Amino acid sequence: MGYRKEFMNDFLYKKNRLYCGKVDIESIARAVGTPFYLYSAHTLKRHLSAYQNAFSSVPHLIAYAMKANANIALLRLLGKEGGGADILSGGELNRALRAEIDPAKIVFAGVGKTREEMREALRAGILLFNVESKQELIVLNEVAKSLRVKAPVAMRVNPEVNPKTHPYLSTGLKKSKFVIEHAQALSHYQLAARLANIDVLGIHSHIGSQLTDVKPFVEAVRKVSGLIQSLRAEGITIRYWDIGGGLGIEYNGELPPMPLELAKNLLPILKESGCTVILEPGRSIVGNAGILVTRVLYTKETEAKKFVVVDAGMNDLIRPSLYGAYHKIVPVVKKRRQNQIVDVVGPICESGDFLAQDRAMPQAAPEELLAVMSAGAYSFSMSSNYNARPRPPEILVHEESYSVIRERESVNDLIRGEKIPSYLQ
Ligand code: LLP
Repeated sequence: MGYRKEFMNDFLYKKNRLYCGKVDIESIARAVGTPFYLYSAHTLKRHLSAYQNAFSSVPHLIAYAMKANANIALLRLLGKEGGGADILSGGELNRALRAEIDPAKIVFAGVGKTREEMREALRAGILLFNVESKQELIVLNEVAKSLRVKAPVAMRVNPEVNPKTHPYLSTGLKKSKFVIEHAQALSHYQLAARLANIDVLGIHSHIGSQLTDVKPFVEAVRKVSGLIQSLRAEGITIRYWDIGGGLGIEYNGELPPMPLELAKNLLPILKESGCTVILEPGRSIVGNAGILVTRVLYTKETEAKKFVVVDAGMNDLIRPSLYGAYHKIVPVVKKRRQNQIVDVVGPICESGDFLAQDRAMPQAAPEELLAVMSAGAYSFSMSSNYNARPRPPEILVHEESYSVIRERESVNDLIRGEKIPSYLQ
């Protein structure tokens, strides 16, 4: 399992104290307060290069799915290492450009791109629009015409395979709102080929997220390969093959395939196509490169349950409440004590505000620090200000030091832009 080591995270105990690489996590908490998100630069680089090495035998682009975590320092780091970006909005485009990601390495997905977003992306000169409907194609053609350019396009097709993941995380099923049905793909491509300001260059599919088995990937890629051949027979050239993202990570004992294993299974099919291969990994790049550090406020016991009340809530990390997702929770400083079955809950006024339910963990005490693991992906990026809670800072550890890559929000940040109308003054 030597290769799996490449994917191990950097959060390890030394003498019962949790470190991020060489930095003691308790010392960061003392300096920045809690809660905070903490990322490892080393792990991020290692994860990106695991993909780059695995697919090195074909022309490829690793377009990091920035919806997983769009902090511009992380983007800058990944961009400097040769990564591109998979974006979903004008906001993400702005972040990617601010981080100096090469526009020629940006792909733009999503069912609801607005004209304004299309204009911004065309002006920036992105690599591909992954188009998801006929109407979108027609609008994109109009927008490109108004700018006197051609829009580079890949059609997002639906391979109709079941990725066997959480229903909210499946995107390639027959009923999915994403994508163009396999059977309709050819007619979409024919339309695209007729539109003067559309440059048909590629094909795109993405079947879901947190996939722990390589088989659905292989099945999807096989199906798309068949489609590429039919398109070529019609005189439509496909130069870019975007196979999407979706590789899972270990949250709690899962054994998802590593990029190398994925590559081994897919490369024979991908190579034959002669295409430049694009991948859009998000979670597997950043998920286990980050944690959320929170402090215990109180412990309490009712007849039915024991609770550990912490200072991070569902506004900071919504995955447990929204998907029933499991995140390991461990003490930052290990001590000898008994295990207890507890709910770890936040301060928010919702009974769905929990980070863990019925979890066996060492008895926690007020003031103690806990680390919520595997919280680099879809964690800060899905956080909110519910209950007027400022969002936590983000910290990046690089070698022996750490930097604040996003400050803690202040209560004044939360009211920026709000106005009291004159008749109420
Ligand atoms: N490409 C497309 C078109 C996508 O829709 C997604 C994720 C990705 C790439 C990246 O997938 P990844 O490699 O991260 O699995 N909020 C959920 C995950 C939603 C995923 C949405 N699309 C969660 O917290 O688990």
